[in-house]
Amino acid sequence: MTRLWDKRASLDARVLQYTAGEDYALDERLVRYDVRASIAHAQMLHAQQLLSVDDLALIRTGLQQLGEEHERGQWRIELADEDVHTALERRLTARIGEAGGRVHLGRSRNDQVLTALRLYLRDAIDELDTGTQGVVAALERLSARQGDIALPGYTHMQQAMPSSVAWWAEGFAAELRDDARGIHSVHRRIENNPLGSAAGYGAPGLPLDRAATTRALGFERTQEPVTSVQLSRGKAESQLLFELAILMQDLGRLAADLLLFYTQEFGFIDLPDAFTTGSSIMPQKRNPDVFELVRARTATALACLNEALFICAKLPSGYQRDLQLLKFPLFRGIDIAGQTLQIVAAALDALTFRPERIHLDPAVHAAQEAYAIVVNEGVPFREAYRRVAARYTHKE
Ligand code: ARG
Repeated sequence: MTRLWDKRASLDARVLQYTAGEDYALDERLVRYDVRASIAHAQMLHAQQLLSVDDLALIRTGLQQLGEEHERGQWRIELADEDVHTALERRLTARIGEAGGRVHLGRSRNDQVLTALRLYLRDAIDELDTGTQGVVAALERLSARQGDIALPGYTHMQQAMPSSVAWWAEGFAAELRDDARGIHSVHRRIENNPLGSAAGYGAPGLPLDRAATTRALGFERTQEPVTSVQLSRGKAESQLLFELAILMQDLGRLAADLLLFYTQEFGFIDLPDAFTTGSSIMPQKRNPDVFELVRARTATALACLNEALFICAKLPSGYQRDLQLLKFPLFRGIDIAGQTLQIVAAALDALTFRPERIHLDPAVHAAQEAYAIVVNEGVPFREAYRRVAARYTHKE
């Protein structure tokens, strides 16, 4: 008997394998958050005279030790545990005895998982913000280093107007700052405390103090009514994955530019050998794979968003086991964005623009010439436009 709910015959191993799937491994990153939420829950039970002071002390110390030992790699969640919640309760009870069996009063894994996920998402948002600011800083360094170099500004992939390395870099930097604000906007959906909603219908007859765990865990408010809690699962996930898809598209567009700039025909940038890969057949090749894979991962980010949205689509209300599968695209999207931010920042620091290879077609100044005629002679813009166009007819 290993699972909390095992009462009769033990579970068919194939059913365990299929239903727990990879959840137990994914839950590794939730251990510290489930520890924190469980301690807050136990403190509340004690304050409500539902748990003795001695049992609270045992539970708190036991959970803290389990959390520290997990950080040190001394134990891992096993398939037989199903998930982090069972893994912790089982180990806690093995360690402190009967008191461990008292911690689950008035809660369910359904509210536990949401609580742990929201606490985790707070940290994930901070890390993604730091990663995004890291790319912004690398773009600013590039701008300070080589910003004065002229670049053609393209529309339709045709030279259109004069631009510069500074403008190119600062344009992306501004959008990435906006992406960071988008990521922070997810806070709106994770600052509701789900704890105490239990399986989704509260804890009838128990004097739980949900406001106490809201305060202890730093949530802004208690999520009410309890029936809304399971309906909200998947929304913060989808919102964050949407913001990450937007972020990844900016990084993908930056990568697409740099891939073009790195072709032999353009030759606008150089990359050190450490940032390019070789070919197994063509001895001369140095390939900019990093940027190709950044570009490709925009597809993965979008797929994660899609997966999260589709899992929730058409579900009836209340907890449904389907919701468990949200963790995979959520963590995958977060990890891919985090890794991409790191490598893009490093690659930006490594690249150099080659001004000797960058040639602006004189025609990129055509609009400016037309503006000068308007300003100096007061003629309508369309008239100035025609006059300037006549100078560049070879292009028509
Ligand atoms: N691992 C589960 C999830 O992520 C936890 C909740 C399980 N609840 C249940 N009733 N089986 O959804």
